[in-house]
Amino acid sequence: MKLFVANWKMHKTRAQARAFAEEFGKLIGGGMDGAGAELVLAPSWTALDAARDARGRWALACQNVAAEAEGAYTGEVSAAMAADAGCRYAIVGHSERRRYFGEDGPLLARKLARCREAGLTPIYCVGETAEEHDAGRMENVLSGQLGILSRDAADAPLVVAYEPVWAIGTGRTASPADCARAAGLIEALLSSRGPVRVLYGGSVTPENAAGLLAHGHVDGCLVGGASLLAESFAAICRA
Ligand code: PGA
Repeated sequence: MKLFVANWKMHKTRAQARAFAEEFGKLIGGGMDGAGAELVLAPSWTALDAARDARGRWALACQNVAAEAEGAYTGEVSAAMAADAGCRYAIVGHSERRRYFGEDGPLLARKLARCREAGLTPIYCVGETAEEHDAGRMENVLSGQLGILSRDAADAPLVVAYEPVWAIGTGRTASPADCARAAGLIEALLSSRGPVRVLYGGSVTPENAAGLLAHGHVDGCLVGGASLLAESFAAICRA
């Protein structure tokens, strides 16, 4: 099964999420299990309910969780609360969280642990910046970012999203070959644990999705901008 995750970031009111869900539901009809695609929407907290599918054709993810389980942490939402609100997955360590909110390895390790306690499957994001890419440091960076998984339960389900920072929201996609290389490296670095699904993210569109998925290593896509329209996300899932 290929996994397709729509990361809406800070977009969509509840009414907009409801309209998306209605249109997306029509586009995918009875669902895409038969076509070998598992679908996930990651709306903002406020739109989780509005984005839910009563028929279960897609699951929900949250875009972040708190590093603490509970307590006096104003403004935070715990992994247990996300699970209680219907999330099956949680995006952890997105490059925007790393960059704008200063999230680093030790903090992300705690977030992963909270996901496990709550039964959420993490979609752990890794990826190098443009400077790191140009300096040939991709392998180094990925192995550093994946290091925190050594403390994660080796038999627990895990999704890793390779999202080169230079490809996110830029219209510049990694080449299918780059993608395969990164996914192969991630698989090798995590070979001592149970099955890991590796996604690619960064300017995925209906036009380039099939090419990115064509080689064996990539198990799906994490889609930002092109997931905001039901029609284009459905087209990517069909790819
Ligand atoms: P993008 O975002 O598809 O808009 O590049 C991907 C992501 O940040 O997950």
